[in-house]
Amino acid sequence: MLGRKVPAVTFRTRVRDESVGGSNPFRWQDVTSDDYFAGKRVVLFSLPGAFTPTCSTYQLPDFEKLAPEFRTLGVDEIYCVSVNDAFVMNAWGKSQGLENVKLIPDGSGEFTRKMGMLVAKDNLGFGMRSWRYAAVVNNGIVEEWFEEEGYSDNCDGDPYGISSPQNILAALKSQKIAA
Ligand code: BEZ
Repeated sequence: MLGRKVPAVTFRTRVRDESVGGSNPFRWQDVTSDDYFAGKRVVLFSLPGAFTPTCSTYQLPDFEKLAPEFRTLGVDEIYCVSVNDAFVMNAWGKSQGLENVKLIPDGSGEFTRKMGMLVAKDNLGFGMRSWRYAAVVNNGIVEEWFEEEGYSDNCDGDPYGISSPQNILAALKSQKIAA
């Protein structure tokens, strides 16, 4: 993946818009890969599903807490992508009180498939989901790649460590020392 451009896709997001009126004032907003990645250095991480235990207890909250440290290391944004629709991703973001991490709904799995990271999770009744990975993406180009070991369909358990924010921070810090 190093040196490759992230796939060009259009994500279907739901955004709050008071002009919609009523008790649920949200509308669709298309956001492209270019909108998310052009001209920015970002950390992207991907996980098997919103609301799943490791993702909700460690991975997402730890990225949220450590966001200021990432900023000091030249990271403009932190994005979390999952093969879940915009309604689920918004509900997850709200439940986590996110202020720093932005959630990207890849409901159709198109982005994840084109990243080569789509796996079957039929053993859990999940269908197709993302293998856990993270990347530093600079202006749309993958600069650093952190993929959990054992990429496979219907994996027993879901490894978590290589793509943790702590591991990525350590890599970015050692890069800075070496520079
Ligand atoms: C998790 O804890 O992150 C998890 C649980 C079940 C399936 C996938 C992920």
